[in-house]
Amino acid sequence: MLDLTPEQLLTTTRAVRRRLDVDRPVDRETIRHCLSIATQAPTSVNLQNWHFVVVTDATVRAGVAEWYRRAWQDYSSTPLDEDPPGEASGAASSRHLARIMPHVPVLLIPCIEGRPEGQASGELAALYGSVVQASWSFQLAARAHGLGSVFTTYHLDYEREVAKLLGIPYDAVTQVALLPVAHTTGGDFRPARRRPLDDVVHWDGW
Ligand SMILES: Cc1cc2nc3c(=O)[nH]c(=O)nc-3n(C[C@H](O)[C@H](O)[C@H](O)COP(=O)(O)O)c2cc1C
Repeated sequence: MLDLTPEQLLTTTRAVRRRLDVDRPVDRETIRHCLSIATQAPTSVNLQNWHFVVVTDATVRAGVAEWYRRAWQDYSSTPLDEDPPGEASGAASSRHLARIMPHVPVLLIPCIEGRPEGQASGELAALYGSVVQASWSFQLAARAHGLGSVFTTYHLDYEREVAKLLGIPYDAVTQVALLPVAHTTGGDFRPARRRPLDDVVHWDGW
């Protein structure tokens, strides 16, 4: 366990891409432990209708990563293997993740029972809210154990294909993200620069 205060943990859990150590295996028990912490998160009506697909098999990981890469490429005009001159650091980091995705030791896919299609906004909030909070708890717990991760959604453009690959019942279960998880190279993550709080906080009305 890293020696972090609760506030340090909450303010330094970053989207880790470049510092995912793809050469160091991740212990299955650590993932189970972090998931047991994650499932202390709330769900609508306490349904606990979440599921977590943990992909560790190298061939299956490569298959999932291929769909992620394809979705990533759909949004980029530069081939994945090329380094466009002057690419912004965020974009380069995103490119790096797409490149290493097949080699990341654990790919975690949080899912929720139900489908979003045709649901009202309140139902959608309950659907996604019932697994996104647990996903973030997982990321926090993982960070506390020296693991890095990043919440990604690109692959959802090919959700049906990934469901088929993993045997997820697409008609009844929604994938909400793909979290690559690995040990990090170094642990010194810092708080991020964010929009000024007063731009986004509204007391007693908008
Ligand atoms: C809903 C959501 C979807 C995201 N999708 C992706 C993604 O597909 N690929 C990726 O590399 N990062 C993705 N991210 C990570 C964000 O880019 C990242 O969290 C953001 O830039 C802030 O960085 P920080 O978490 O280190 O503060 C996603 C984050 C969220 C919350």
